[in-house]
Amino acid sequence: MTVPENPLRDPQDRRLPRIAGPCSLVLFGVTGDLSRTKLMPAVYDLANRGLLPPGFALVGFARRDWAHQDFAKVVYDAVKAHSRTPFREETWRQLAEGFRFVPGEFSDDKAFANLARTVDELDEARGTAGNHAFYLSIPPKFFPDVVGQLKEHGLATAEGGAWRRVVVEKPFGRDLASARQLNAVVSDVFPPHAVFRIDHYLGKETVQNVLAFRFANAMFEPVWNANYVDHVQITMAEDVGIGGRAGYYDGIGAARDVIQNHLLQLMALIAMEDPTSFDARNLRQEKQKVLAAVRTPDRIDLHTARGQYAAGWQGGKQVIGYCDEDDIPNRSSTETYAAIRLDIENRRWAGVPFYLRTGKRLGRRVTEVAVVFKRAPHLPFTETATEELGQNALVMRIQPDEGVTLRFGAKVPGTAMELRDVNMDFAYGGAFVESSPEAYERLILDVLLGDPPLFPQHEEVELSWQILDPIVSWWAERGRPGQYPAGSWGPESADEMIARDDRAWRRP
Ligand code: BG6
Repeated sequence: MTVPENPLRDPQDRRLPRIAGPCSLVLFGVTGDLSRTKLMPAVYDLANRGLLPPGFALVGFARRDWAHQDFAKVVYDAVKAHSRTPFREETWRQLAEGFRFVPGEFSDDKAFANLARTVDELDEARGTAGNHAFYLSIPPKFFPDVVGQLKEHGLATAEGGAWRRVVVEKPFGRDLASARQLNAVVSDVFPPHAVFRIDHYLGKETVQNVLAFRFANAMFEPVWNANYVDHVQITMAEDVGIGGRAGYYDGIGAARDVIQNHLLQLMALIAMEDPTSFDARNLRQEKQKVLAAVRTPDRIDLHTARGQYAAGWQGGKQVIGYCDEDDIPNRSSTETYAAIRLDIENRRWAGVPFYLRTGKRLGRRVTEVAVVFKRAPHLPFTETATEELGQNALVMRIQPDEGVTLRFGAKVPGTAMELRDVNMDFAYGGAFVESSPEAYERLILDVLLGDPPLFPQHEEVELSWQILDPIVSWWAERGRPGQYPAGSWGPESADEMIARDDRAWRRP
């Protein structure tokens, strides 16, 4: 069944909310952390904002002996605990009418036959019109089974104008070779336009604002290059440890978990040329050009650093070290902190290092991009006047204190000429009244609308692994990383790494 187009609707008209058409979302991995803390609440928030169609259906698939009501209770608890918008009985009741649960193993034919019947029943009962998105919030080792079953049971293709889409969560592989294998599995069943790879950083308002900031303004682009920029620091720091995610995290580590996807995507947005338009093809093309121009350091020993958190103090509480966490081997060599220097070999960025760092159990939770400028070529002041003057910097605060800071020098009031750094601030909270949607709200809606610009393509995933592979394999040959106390800003080796270039990490 196809939905006729409304000739009075202009898709570019931003007064009209982007509302998904008739469809369902089938969730694999409903018992996982991500489903409960992010995905289910995001579905509710979308419904609450009126962005889902009235007949929308949410199907859970898991190895649990649940009836539909048991699944509804799991979603209810998740929504109550984690949704962003207020709980409204009316929204909940309407949404819950579209809940279905299918029990079974990923290798179980009968379960997938049941899923196929469920989806057909939804088309009849809820008017989902043959449009179904399959969200694989499961470890990649299960992709072949699930994707194969979807194909076997005719779930991967639809008739008429209806669509089928697959959503895959990271990590997309653990290196280039495994990413290629996974991609072969998925692309054997779904065509490229039906595959949505999630990098939830791209769903964040502040990350999209990088594009607005750079390309909607006249002021910044002229200085956004090697003539003016000294270096760029991209930081993603977390105060939490690994929580209950030992099974996923150990053996993966900070570089694969965060740098390969979130930080390289951020770097691509900061460094890319202006795309001809923001449609998926043009945007991806520009990001890919940057990633393809990245040079991994020749001396990995000098330009990278890693560490593992030891016991320490965090937020006034004593916390345990990584190797004492549940289910972590006590001589694990997984890094929970990673820092790397990358260079981009093109005319705009030649000679400008990009420093990327991420870690768990650091001083506080903060993600930011700092573009640090060169000093003015000449300072017509006495040396004492400029003693306290640092370098100009533009800091894009991705979270939690969303905004932008511009740091520059100013005269200290008084009879003598004395200069010091001051900050000029834009804060989202102060400038806009509406609060930002969660990244997953935006991304799930885009999947249901079939809107691909915020989803990286396989080429980007491959390029990112190509950048990271030599580094993580070099580390793997060198055994366990050094430790840093929980609550600190990472291992000393990271300070030494950047000090070799006569620079220092910002304290965010
Ligand atoms: C995920 C990582 O992709 O991002 C987690 O797997 C990390 O380890 C999380 O905690 C952080 O996301 P956010 O949105 O809180 O910065």
